[in-house]
Amino acid sequence: MKNPSPLKSESAFSRLYSPATLYEPVDYTMNQGGKKIRFNITLLACKAFTDDVAKAELAAKAIEMFHNFTLVHDDVIDRADTRRGQPAVHKKWDLNTALLSGDVMLILAYEYLTQIQHPNLSQILQKFTKTAREVCEGQQMDIDFENLPAVQMDSYIDMISKKTAVLVGAAMYIGSKCGGAEEADALSLYQFGLHLGIAFQIRDDILDCYGDKVKVGKTKGGDILQGKKTILYIRTWNTLSPEDQVKFEKLYYGSDSDKINQVLEWFIKSDAKSYALEMEKNYFRKAINHLKQANIPEHKMHDLFDFANELMDRDH
Ligand code: IPE
Ligand code: IPE
Ligand code: MG
Ligand code: MG
Ligand code: MG
Repeated sequence: MKNPSPLKSESAFSRLYSPATLYEPVDYTMNQGGKKIRFNITLLACKAFTDDVAKAELAAKAIEMFHNFTLVHDDVIDRADTRRGQPAVHKKWDLNTALLSGDVMLILAYEYLTQIQHPNLSQILQKFTKTAREVCEGQQMDIDFENLPAVQMDSYIDMISKKTAVLVGAAMYIGSKCGGAEEADALSLYQFGLHLGIAFQIRDDILDCYGDKVKVGKTKGGDILQGKKTILYIRTWNTLSPEDQVKFEKLYYGSDSDKINQVLEWFIKSDAKSYALEMEKNYFRKAINHLKQANIPEHKMHDLFDFANELMDRDH
């Protein structure tokens, strides 16, 4: 890579490399106004161990690029047309563009990693690579669950741990390693991130049908339309009689034009949203307990706590 632009400024790979048809969708995605949570987590975790956050900049870029790659492919998998309030890549361009521009984003992520100067780069690469494999496993589980009649809450937690939470954990681990953390402390922060990531995905499921469409920037009720086994679906299903379970499944996997509203009524009747919010809080608490295990100065601990707290209150 010649001169990777810092993430805070515009991504401009289409000016560095060709063909433009491959790289313009990369720039489109990276400049689309994502929250950059994983980028910031990597820097914040580094900052807990050194004042020189530049040490984690390449890793932060790699992790954020990887995340964006997963979103480009995720929108194909989920048949989602809108991302961050704009057309998804496979809609703005086409399926092949989404596949290949997504692929090159994964490679660009690795290109950032190869530039890291760290005495234990192989440890960072191992964590990143295992995490990337787990994300694929989680995404496949998410797809498989669409076709299963019943999914237990434990299996759901396992699935979201892999598709979403391990990357938040890896951002914590890799960021802290870049800052010079001891293995035990990096592992505590990994667990902090993992539990935070579970809470984060639970909130994502809630926002999918209860969020403000403009703020969230995705199709409202997209998970219902796609037949996703979200926490709201599973909780509702668990509270129903066998007869009602059959009715509910029929509705969820049917093509009634008023499906979203009717499903929401079932969610309301079983108070699934309150249950999900309680679960989110539980995982947040678990996350904080792991944070407390890390041997880091009090004020830096506060910075991480404040960041996590803000994440829990998010509306997009
Ligand atoms: C969306 O992640 C995908 C999930 C893992 C839930 P974000 O909500 O962090 O998406 P952006 O990057 O801010 O758009
Ligand atoms: C996304 O889960 C997980 C990954 C992209 C790996 P979702 O499918 O729920 O994410 P959104 O809601 O489309 O952002
Ligand atoms: Mg998905
Ligand atoms: Mg999706
Ligand atoms: Mg979602």
